[in-house]
Order: sequence, then structure tokens, then C-alpha cells
Amino acid sequence: MNRSCRGRTLVGVTGGIAAYKSAELVRLLRRRDHEVQVVMTESATRFVSPLTFQALSGRTVRTSLWDEAGEAAMGHIELARWADRILVAPASADFLAKLNTGLADDLLATLCLVAECPLWVAPAMNRSMWRHPATQANVKSLQLRGVKILGPAEGEQACGETGPGRMLAPEEILSSLEAELQAGPLQGTRVMVTAGPTREAIDPVRYISNRSSGKMGYAVAQAAREAGAVVTLVTGPTVLTPPQVTKLVRVESAGEMYEAVMKWVEGQDIFIATAAVADYAPVEKEKNKIKKKPETIQLELTRTPDILASVAALENKPFTVGFAAETRSLAQYAREKLVRKNLDMIAANIVGEKQGFEVEDNALDVFWPGGETHLSLSSKLTLARRLIGLVAERYEARNSTENTR
Ligand code: PMT
Repeated sequence: MNRSCRGRTLVGVTGGIAAYKSAELVRLLRRRDHEVQVVMTESATRFVSPLTFQALSGRTVRTSLWDEAGEAAMGHIELARWADRILVAPASADFLAKLNTGLADDLLATLCLVAECPLWVAPAMNRSMWRHPATQANVKSLQLRGVKILGPAEGEQACGETGPGRMLAPEEILSSLEAELQAGPLQGTRVMVTAGPTREAIDPVRYISNRSSGKMGYAVAQAAREAGAVVTLVTGPTVLTPPQVTKLVRVESAGEMYEAVMKWVEGQDIFIATAAVADYAPVEKEKNKIKKKPETIQLELTRTPDILASVAALENKPFTVGFAAETRSLAQYAREKLVRKNLDMIAANIVGEKQGFEVEDNALDVFWPGGETHLSLSSKLTLARRLIGLVAERYEARNSTENTR
């Protein structure tokens, strides 16, 4: 696995005697090339000093929502977005209850509520607390929401009793985590994603562009990385922090995006064109700022290169996925583009107030030769994960058809 593919693991430590084992867990994660940020609850700090975790993780430990120094460095929302996964170890009975009810009265619980990344918990508590129907109900409900529960193990407990409730050994937690990371459906594939708008300069201060924020494209890149792919992201100008990818190429215009894609596309297995590329650019870019004229002015525009169609026309083309943004006749236009541009798949979105450009949510109608599906309105990251699942399925299907020819 590529070094940078281990990603960013936020380790949450809650109050319990097992907190000392998390120090070893952090050490192991770092040795396996995870970037680690530790967040401790107030009661966890009574068992182990934050300084221990700071020394092992190489980062200042965060302990409070009101920690001004920390908030100045990375706010709690940013911290939640920073993480590729959250691992709470040990997770106390109290914390599981909090997580299940959605309480946000400390930094760690708040982060878990904000985060959209996978969440893992390794419970540790007295055996009676673990067996209590309230704890069991919390665990079941968390599992139904997709939270992964690691353990607990059985054995002698710190209180002297014997039974289930011991936190799993750090090595076991690490191997469960890594087994899952390696089992991503795009493990071993190379994925290139384009994202954001392009800007076509008119003069040194003006340009033609569109409303794309980059949110959808960045979510697609992140979801591909979570699925195990080595990701190259070619992005137009946005204000967003890009997800952690193997290669990030920043461009401004459609021409630059075309050059960058063509330069790096060789050897890519999958190409996903999420960018809203300007279709036209001014024929001339004025050297100086254009001065006001009394009445109307003429701006001559020329077509930009079609990046998606160019990739799909390559001899060894990757599995090619286009996007289509439409205000009407979504299915008809999307199907036409699928055929005209020789694509393997197209994800079409209606441009509206609640979905499409700029906003947080989106919905997609996805078409491929011989099939289609609807991915309902949800956050762009959730949607991107479902799209990537579908891309992985169709990519696999195409490869097995080609292999049996
Ligand atoms: O960035 P967000 O604010 O989150 O918004 C997301 C989005 C609405 C921009 C995104 O979901 C989306 O629909 N992207 C494609 C928008 C678009 O330009 O669609 P189109 O129908 O004009 O283009 C069709 C396809 O051709 C797209 O895959 C586009 O990347 C590609 N294209 C278009 C023109 C061009 N010169 N080169 C291209 O590669």
C-alpha cells in the first residue's frame, strides 16, 4: 500500500483504565504510517497525561471544545473533516450512550457528530456495564448506523471480575482497522478525478467561470481514496481544503486542465470528470485591463478542448465516467452524452436550489450501457461513496467481460 494511503486517523480516548493501552495503539499507528491526532475526554486525562499522547503522536493533543489554542490551529469542524477515520479506544459505556443519543457536550462527542468519515469504537468497561441492556441497545443501534464495534475481549478485568469488557489489544485493533482499509473495492487501482470550475481569462482582472464549488469533485476523490485507490486530483480554483490524495494538480483554465489530465492520465484505471469545465474561452486574453466603453462590447469566444471526450478517445482509455449538469431533460441529455462521448458511465445531476452546484447535497441519476440507477439526495460525500461503489462494480464487470473474450 502506498505510504500516504494510510491516511489520517483521529484517535479518541475516553476515561477508563484501558486508556494506557491506547498509548501503545498510537505508537503502532504511527509506525504503520498513519497521521494521528489524539482527542481526549476530560476523564481520560485523569488516567493518562496528554503529554504521553503528544510525544507519541507528534501532535498537540486536543481535550476541550473551549481550547482556544487548539481552536485557533484547527476548529472542531475542520478537525472532523481532517480525519479519514475516527477510532475511539477505549470507548466507555458513557461515551457509547452519548454517541447513540447524539449528545455533543465535549470535543470528542461533537467531532463524532460532525464527522462523515467511518467511525470505529473499541469498548472497555466492567462486564456488568457491558451486559446491561442499555449498553447492548446502544451498541446495536450504533452498529445499525454503520459504526464498527471492535471487541470487547473477555478476561480478567481491572476491577478483579472476569468476563467481557476488556479493550482489545492494540495489535488486534490495528489489524482489524488495516484489514478493512485493505479490503476497499478499489484497492490497487489508480483513479484520476477532475473537480471544481475553470476560469477563462478575459483580461488580467476578469474571467468567465461558473458556480462549481469543487465540493462534489473533492468528495469523489475522497471516496475513491477511502475505497483504497491511489488518487490523482486535478482541480480548478476553489476555496476548499483538498482531500489527502497521492497527487494534487492545481489548474486555472480549461486549457490547463486539459494539459494536466493528458500529462498524467497514462496508467490510470479510472477517470472521473466531475469538473465543470468552461465550454468557451475568450479568443484573446487582453494584456491590459479593458477600459469601459460607452455602449456594448463584443467578446469573441472559442470552444475549449473537451477533456472527457479526449480521455475516452485514448487507445488505452481508462474506465471513463462523465458528469452531466442539466436544468431539464436530464435522462435524455445524459444518455446522449454517454454515447456521443464514448463513456463507460455518466452521473447526471439536476441543477437546483437544493442540489447541484455550490450546495452541500446532491442527487444523481447514473447511466451506463445497459443499466441505470438513482442515487437519492444526500450529502455530497455520502453520495460520492455510493457512486464509487457503483463505479467499482461496473469497472470490475467490464474487466471480467474483457478477460473472458
Ligand atoms: O462543484 P460543486 O459545487 O459541488 O458542483 C458539482 C457539479 C454540479 C459541478 C458536478 O456534480 C457536475 O455536474 N459536474 C459536471 C458539470 C458539467 O460541466 O457538466 P457538462 O454537462 O457541461 O459536461 C459534461 C462532462 O464533460 C463533465 O464530466 C465535464 O467534466 C466534461 N467536460 C465538459 C467540457 C469540457 N470542455 N471538458 C470536459 O471534460
